Amino acid sequence: MAKLPAIAFEKLKQPASGSVVFLIGKEGEPSATAREIDAENRIPRALSVTEFSGKLATSIEVLAPAAAFDRFVICGCGDLAGNGQAEWMRVGGKLRSLTAKAELVTVVCELDVGELSPEAIAAIAAGAKLRAYDFDNYRTKDRKAGKTGKIVFACANPSAVRKAWKRMDAITDGVITARDLVNEPANVLGPVEFAKRAEALSELGLEVEVLEEKALRKLKMGALLGVAQGSPRPPRLVVMQWRGAGNDSAPVAFVGKGVVFDTGGISIKPAAGMEDMKGDMGGAAAVTGLMHALAGRKAKVNAIGIIGLVENMPDGNAQRPGDIVTAMSGQTIEVLNTDAEGRLVLADALWYCQERFKPKFMIDLATLTGAIMVALGNHHAGLFSNDDVLAGQLESAGKATDERVWRMPMGPDYDKMIDSKNADVKNIGGRFAGSITAAQFLKRFVNDVPWAHLDIAGTAMGSPKNEYSQSWSSGYGVRLLDRLVADNFE
Ligand code: BES
Ligand code: MN
Ligand code: ZN
Repeated sequence: MAKLPAIAFEKLKQPASGSVVFLIGKEGEPSATAREIDAENRIPRALSVTEFSGKLATSIEVLAPAAAFDRFVICGCGDLAGNGQAEWMRVGGKLRSLTAKAELVTVVCELDVGELSPEAIAAIAAGAKLRAYDFDNYRTKDRKAGKTGKIVFACANPSAVRKAWKRMDAITDGVITARDLVNEPANVLGPVEFAKRAEALSELGLEVEVLEEKALRKLKMGALLGVAQGSPRPPRLVVMQWRGAGNDSAPVAFVGKGVVFDTGGISIKPAAGMEDMKGDMGGAAAVTGLMHALAGRKAKVNAIGIIGLVENMPDGNAQRPGDIVTAMSGQTIEVLNTDAEGRLVLADALWYCQERFKPKFMIDLATLTGAIMVALGNHHAGLFSNDDVLAGQLESAGKATDERVWRMPMGPDYDKMIDSKNADVKNIGGRFAGSITAAQFLKRFVNDVPWAHLDIAGTAMGSPKNEYSQSWSSGYGVRLLDRLVADNFE
């Protein structure tokens, strides 16, 4: 397990001697507190010698600044007014990266920015914790992550900050849950094991149901079962419920693609890079991490998380190209490519979700298409929706958290591309517009519920590293959807 720092918030007169002192600020005059710590007046000189600009997440260090301290680290915070959660998290990530080997770090004060808001301080703490995350469970030797360490934030009003942190820490733990699930290799994390991990979250007050193969057969989930039949490991459908609204109002619902490994099936993938397909359950991981976050912070909302867990393997019992399966909705699907399996899993999970729960809306997350990376790279998830209000809310939440989305078009012209000669629908639409035809396919299984689909193939894994995310799996989606819920549905 990665060594995550202990985090505390205190009213301090002076940082503990021997601690690394971390100061946050811009260009300008040090605050009175900074001047007090900096008895030898090193900071102003260091700022001018280095021409410190105060740009966000840039830093300088002052070594041996005073008898009691070995190091001051000064970190820029950029344009204060423009900083949101993600900017403060970057500052926190920088904090951890520069002090990972220190036993004790005191975040003392600001140079010229005044006391930060509790939310800003909590976001800095979250950035530091997420930066410390390292998937090192299986490295028996080279554990290069830093010391566990302790980070103490000196603040004027510790109890307000502790309250903000309690909430932010729950979200951070949700992100870590999602990262861990995506990083875990598929030999360890099959559908059954994934379901067990979701079940363990009942500790937080979630109600978790695990539907086994027999139940899925009874529900006539022929699309999901068709994918699963090539693997000796049986499928699972997990339903997580959080009842936090205090009434029986219709829930918000999240649905995740959980292909624990995607070989492509009989339409097998090329060998190069296939190992990344252990992350083809990134949608399910995000939904699980989100439910962790909502329960952990006791969100005032009724929420459902549904994940379809299967392994896509080619064996003697695997489904073949050309097979026709009947989904739970009753629609028949011609499976022309067994590698377009995620939409088959989601077809049944989405239909089940709207039938059983009559949700306010459904949002599905899926590492669904390589084509979305061709279109958007790793910087935005593809957003597809039948509802402009919901799409707008997602765009706002994306900006607020820097988990960005980009809306893509849908419409009857694209829908036509998946009409099948032999069945109601086929599971591929040809070479062009691959992400859109995938979304059109899903749309045929959502009925009239407001719905959005996030194609996270480019953002859930292998996305660019930043100050607070060094992991192959980013945990994308947890903060985005938590924010969507907090801003619109609580
Ligand atoms: N899981 C893949 C999509 C994917 C590719 C995610 C690369 C992350 C990285 C999905 O199941 C898939 O194989 N999609 C095919 C669809 C095609 C057969 C229509 C694709 O994108 O090539
Ligand atoms: Mn596939
Ligand atoms: Zn897949």
